[in-house]
Amino acid sequence: MPQIDAIIAQMTLQEKAALCTGATAWTTTPIERLDVPELFVADGPHGVRRVPDAASMAIGALPATCFPTAAATACSWNRSLLSRMGQALAAEAIALGVDVLLGPGINMKRLPTCGRNFEYFSEDPYLAGELAISLIDGIQSRGVGTSLKHFAVNNQEEQRMTIDAQVDERTLREIYLSAFEAAVTKAQPWTVMCSYNRVNGVYASEHRRLLTEILKEEWRFEGLVVSDWTAVHDRVAALRAGLDLEMPGPRPRRVQAVVEAVQQGELAEAALDEAVRRILRIVFQAAETPKGAPFDAAAHHALARQIAAESMVLLKNDGILPLAGAARIAVIGRAAREAHFQGGGSSHINPTQVDAPIEELRKLAGGAEISYCEGYPADDSSQPDLIAEAVAAAEAAEVALLFIALPTFKESEGYDRSDLDLTSHQIALIRAVAAAQPRNVVILNNGSALAMGDWIDGAAAVLEGWMMGQAGGGAIADLLVGAVNPSGKLAETFPLRLADTPAYLNYPGEAGQVRYGEGIFIGYRYYDARQQPVLFPFGHGLSYTTFAYSAPRVSKQTFRDAEGILVEVDVTNTGDVAGQEVVQVYVHDCAASVLRPPKELKGFAKVDLQPTETKTVAIPLDFRAFAFFHPDHGRWVAETGDFDILVGASSADIRGSVRVSYQSTAVLPSLLDRMSTLRQWLDDPRGQAAIGPLYAQFQTALQTVFGGDGEGAGPDIMHFVLDMPLPDLLEFQGDALPVAPATIIDGLLQQVRG
Ligand code: BGC
Repeated sequence: MPQIDAIIAQMTLQEKAALCTGATAWTTTPIERLDVPELFVADGPHGVRRVPDAASMAIGALPATCFPTAAATACSWNRSLLSRMGQALAAEAIALGVDVLLGPGINMKRLPTCGRNFEYFSEDPYLAGELAISLIDGIQSRGVGTSLKHFAVNNQEEQRMTIDAQVDERTLREIYLSAFEAAVTKAQPWTVMCSYNRVNGVYASEHRRLLTEILKEEWRFEGLVVSDWTAVHDRVAALRAGLDLEMPGPRPRRVQAVVEAVQQGELAEAALDEAVRRILRIVFQAAETPKGAPFDAAAHHALARQIAAESMVLLKNDGILPLAGAARIAVIGRAAREAHFQGGGSSHINPTQVDAPIEELRKLAGGAEISYCEGYPADDSSQPDLIAEAVAAAEAAEVALLFIALPTFKESEGYDRSDLDLTSHQIALIRAVAAAQPRNVVILNNGSALAMGDWIDGAAAVLEGWMMGQAGGGAIADLLVGAVNPSGKLAETFPLRLADTPAYLNYPGEAGQVRYGEGIFIGYRYYDARQQPVLFPFGHGLSYTTFAYSAPRVSKQTFRDAEGILVEVDVTNTGDVAGQEVVQVYVHDCAASVLRPPKELKGFAKVDLQPTETKTVAIPLDFRAFAFFHPDHGRWVAETGDFDILVGASSADIRGSVRVSYQSTAVLPSLLDRMSTLRQWLDDPRGQAAIGPLYAQFQTALQTVFGGDGEGAGPDIMHFVLDMPLPDLLEFQGDALPVAPATIIDGLLQQVRG
């Protein structure tokens, strides 16, 4: 890599400003006289969308493998598979001359209706972070960069370019930033893409706290921050905030504005140099990877099929699957012929080939007779004749397979869904077919949770196929016939009704603002805390075999901070076929000074087991597994006390637990102040020690005021007293006190603060 500082020293102000703005829709500005090449970026996240003409924003792109979308791959819970997918994506980027792939997207699924959920992993930040790390490592291990997006708090498509997400600090850190934090600190993506929206009043593109203080300073992000396409409003303010590269270009007026801002002393040239340095480092790093070697399309298609099969989730099965011995199969639904494998918007890939589910099924169905009917129209109309035809086909067959895809007009980047339902025609179709043929399987293709109350009782089995990538048709066939045993587990809760969902009353917002009023309680954190029944819980997914879990063991029952612990459990395949199980580890804080979710995912592992085989799964838990973000201390805190380690097959299927005792050695400054209540003084060990003698005095004084025992200072009155600020309490003793209450409290505070 050339000497970057030497290059910067030779650059004119104009060249520096130009480097910080794209030259085309997909490239940065080259500087020929200094041998600075351009950087070529392309969407992302589940395939390489390389447009032939860099100046064009058009959707048409060169052929590339469309891998399963993030909503799908998250359900694989398989880190090494994500890493392999990353390596394949990098090989395609290299073949197509792309330096940086614009992904992964790791925004939290705050709403099941967010139109872009198919591009995101999960409602859980730990799971999303872990999978993003593997994908980024996979891509970057081949010398291709990534762009972690959309930073931050971009959780709805409704008004996505302007909405102001109002979110408190703890929620921000624990839910909306922590997957980004994990990915940045552990995988160092080459670039991070800011989001369009505002966060607590400030556009993400101009958010100095997010882009500079948290991302670059606190997390030590070394790469460059790129804007989402057109997310920059004030180029100079964005540069000051830490937004290095504005895309797309060209934007000569913006470049000029930066030049003038430096000339007029409004923007420090050092700030511009810092952006230039970050961009040059990535430009030269990318240039080290030779481009052009072709990729193996057939091998990538096969990998896409394997990933899809591991990502699909068998939600329900009364025993009909795997299909065995059916001589006549009715295939119903246009998604059987026209695979619905990706979503609308910027991630749209031009696939190298597409597997139609029905054709793949024909290859694996052992000569069964397979009929086809369309089932539902491409639009939102209702066509009873299609239903009648499907019912007749289902009656004539031994089993009916319903291939139902949620249409793009209901779900895409750019808009949110207004409900959780299939189209009314699709619902009517499923109900009618199920009434005619109880041996039926519903195979779904969609990008986010669906409600199924209208029809699930009549379905003998339901397979969630997601937006499954170009090879998903083959994966469905593999799973239906049992060539592959399902092992996907939900990375998001499927609620019963939209009205049950955590942000229901805080969406889409008012007057341009959306208040994240549910705080840290999104996804299963909310349903658990509310004891709210759901359709399918987070972590759920069936298999064609069964698994037994031993009681979990821990390496230490009592441990201190950084030591962490290792959780171990023996898992046995107790069925007849080989299978994979996702072992999930949740942590429950038995007592905390803040409100915490009943449990949070803090570890997982996927294990492959032959029939009767047992393997020991070991999952480490570190400080962060026990910590919450303390808004007053402004840091992660884990409190001394007991925690339950819950080991399960889903968030609602906990197979065993073990209690551990965490001992914090962190010395935090006391938060007591002049208006702290008696309870707060007593809860703080230093406060308790300081207040000790005074406390005895209070009790005596209270007895006098409220009259001894009986009606006096019993437990109820103590409750009342405990929540009184200390000065108010002292005032009860009035002039009996030797000095004014404020003087006493100042003295106590001095003791506490040492
Ligand atoms: C999307 C980004 C995408 C960019 C470039 C934007 O509209 O939000 O995710 O990378 O366009 O296509």
